[in-house]
Amino acid sequence: MTGAIRFVSAAARRSAVAGLVLSLAVVPLMAQSPAPTTFINTLMPQPASLTEEAGDMPIRTTFIYALHGNNGNRLRQGAVRFIHHLEMYTGVQMALTPTANAASATLTIDVRSAASDAFPTPDEDESYTLDAGPQHITLSANTDIGALRGLQTLLQLAQPAGSGFVFPAVHIQDAPRFPWRGLMLDCGRHFMPLNVIYRTLDGMAAVKLNVFHWHLTEDQGFRIESRVFPRLQEMGSNGLYYTQQQVRDVITYASARGIRVVPEFDMPGHSTSWMVGYPNLGSAPGPYSVQTSFGIFDSAFDPTRNSTYQFLDAFLGEMARLFPDPYMHIGGDESNGKEWRANPHIHAFMKAHGYTTTAQLQTYFSTRVQKILGRYHKRTVGWDEILNPALPKNAVIEVWHRDQFLIEGAKEGHRELYAHPYYLDHMYTAAQVFLADPVPAEANLTPAQAKLILGGEACMWSEQISPDSVDSRIWPRAAAVAERLWSPASDRDTNDMYRRLDVESLRLDADGLDHIAAPNRGLRQLARTADDEPLMLFASTLQPVDTSIRYKQEHPTQLTSFDLLVDAVRPDPPLRQEMNQLVDRALHGDAAAASQLRSTFKAWIAAAPAVARYAMYSPRLQQASDRIGQWPKLGTAGLESLDYLAQNTPPPADWLAAQKQLLNQAAQHEELVDFAVLPAIQHLIDAASGDQPPHAQP
Ligand code: ACM
Repeated sequence: MTGAIRFVSAAARRSAVAGLVLSLAVVPLMAQSPAPTTFINTLMPQPASLTEEAGDMPIRTTFIYALHGNNGNRLRQGAVRFIHHLEMYTGVQMALTPTANAASATLTIDVRSAASDAFPTPDEDESYTLDAGPQHITLSANTDIGALRGLQTLLQLAQPAGSGFVFPAVHIQDAPRFPWRGLMLDCGRHFMPLNVIYRTLDGMAAVKLNVFHWHLTEDQGFRIESRVFPRLQEMGSNGLYYTQQQVRDVITYASARGIRVVPEFDMPGHSTSWMVGYPNLGSAPGPYSVQTSFGIFDSAFDPTRNSTYQFLDAFLGEMARLFPDPYMHIGGDESNGKEWRANPHIHAFMKAHGYTTTAQLQTYFSTRVQKILGRYHKRTVGWDEILNPALPKNAVIEVWHRDQFLIEGAKEGHRELYAHPYYLDHMYTAAQVFLADPVPAEANLTPAQAKLILGGEACMWSEQISPDSVDSRIWPRAAAVAERLWSPASDRDTNDMYRRLDVESLRLDADGLDHIAAPNRGLRQLARTADDEPLMLFASTLQPVDTSIRYKQEHPTQLTSFDLLVDAVRPDPPLRQEMNQLVDRALHGDAAAASQLRSTFKAWIAAAPAVARYAMYSPRLQQASDRIGQWPKLGTAGLESLDYLAQNTPPPADWLAAQKQLLNQAAQHEELVDFAVLPAIQHLIDAASGDQPPHAQP
């Protein structure tokens, strides 16, 4: 809390300076209300319903709020954060604390329930109503967490108007479509320092994600302190783990933002790190050592020994006391059964129980673990491999394979989480994750089955990320997932989503997320120059290859330093969508769009020699030398296509053949980076050659 107060004071000092300048120079002009503003909807996620009304409220230093009905810490701290962010966005200094004089308030936060749950609950009422008028704004909610969601919306409503900012008059009635809107972060394969965790929670709060799924144990690292079994972290983690006090602090921070923390302890597979210090847990004789490479390993808990369950009972009991959430994730993925089949004792156990597959043995294991968790009042979540007709129905299934698992799980009556379309490491575009509905139409679920789907989770696995690249891999695409999980199913306009995502991306940047800053820093370090413009231009055209492609080409391990060009480029970079739209407009006769495309292509051609020069002195950049060579040629292909189109002359066959060859080469997944702008250029070339091209992919 003291940290938070210091932070606010520093901002307040900066704002005070801005306020002073304002009072000297601008106040006479500001004294008249600015002309009514056209409301620009940049809300992300979109609310359930919104009605525009007449007028707007100028955001002035006189803005002051009153709390009515709930005065708890969570709401008071949330209101202070709201003012602090509003100050940052607008440069206007405002009162941080509420007024006791309700009649003077410009914002009334009215929370019906005076009491607050100590921690957010899975069936939390997050609904709120926002009535923003020119004189007064009322935010009403049943719970303090509903009010926090409404404050995020209000913050996003602030928009520039003339020389100041306003809240446009709107009536919003809002509630999430799904109660479980998660983000999974794998801190096992690569440890993520606490500052990454905290800023991830900040980003989640900004877009109303409400479950932080903390993947804490992996073959490559045991990342949490156990006091009962200290060799877990001491021998299983190369020293990088979260202490119990740090975990409690993270839970407190998340809870203050209305975010639940669900830990994952992956078992029976992905468990090598447990066995380094406690080899008797394993199904093989051992010894075990922490893995530094990635993939599927054979280590698995011995499911036949009572001592395994005694150990898990003591460990999970310890964790159940540490984590207040009623859910606990037991993983269950990718246990290959090899150690089980190789162990005569386990083999005999299977035979005695009539199990013919290791999947049946895994169900025996999961069911026993589920019973242990039940005794600690925890409900089990597991990846879809735990799905089996014999599994007790109260386990929640997280679907990471295919929709078929969603369908099967729903038929068997399990509650479910949708995850596979939201695997961020597959570098799906924001449009792809946004359009993937947790209740897929093709699945033909009955209404009762559809009700079992609690929501979904954006998943960030960490084989190929570092604390420097994690933000750009998560953000802003996770905001598109957040909107899918919060907003009505009918919200499917990808162009409008991208327009708002660009704004949200900058808001997240202001909130301290590193998805823009860190890649740019990476580029400067790659070229060892502060003259980063040519490289930034080059990087704006590129995106990382899918994790599975990098895995095949480079076999990165935990020891790989993720400092190549691929690590400093962003998935689904803004230029991809922008160029698709410019090309569409240019082909519909929009001269300004054609001119902007020309400028872009010329800029590439002009910047390319500098990038090639940096590469001469940067071995790491040289690894992308084919891409560096192809880049200006793509610019030329674009320019020449525009020329042919402008002259209305078909290009000669040898030109077309050369472009085809260039695009084929540029489309190969090589040097770990893909050109995100290829579909737009292909579209131009096709149009110039008179083909009717298919529309660009989302
Ligand atoms: C997983 O992706 N192995 C759950």
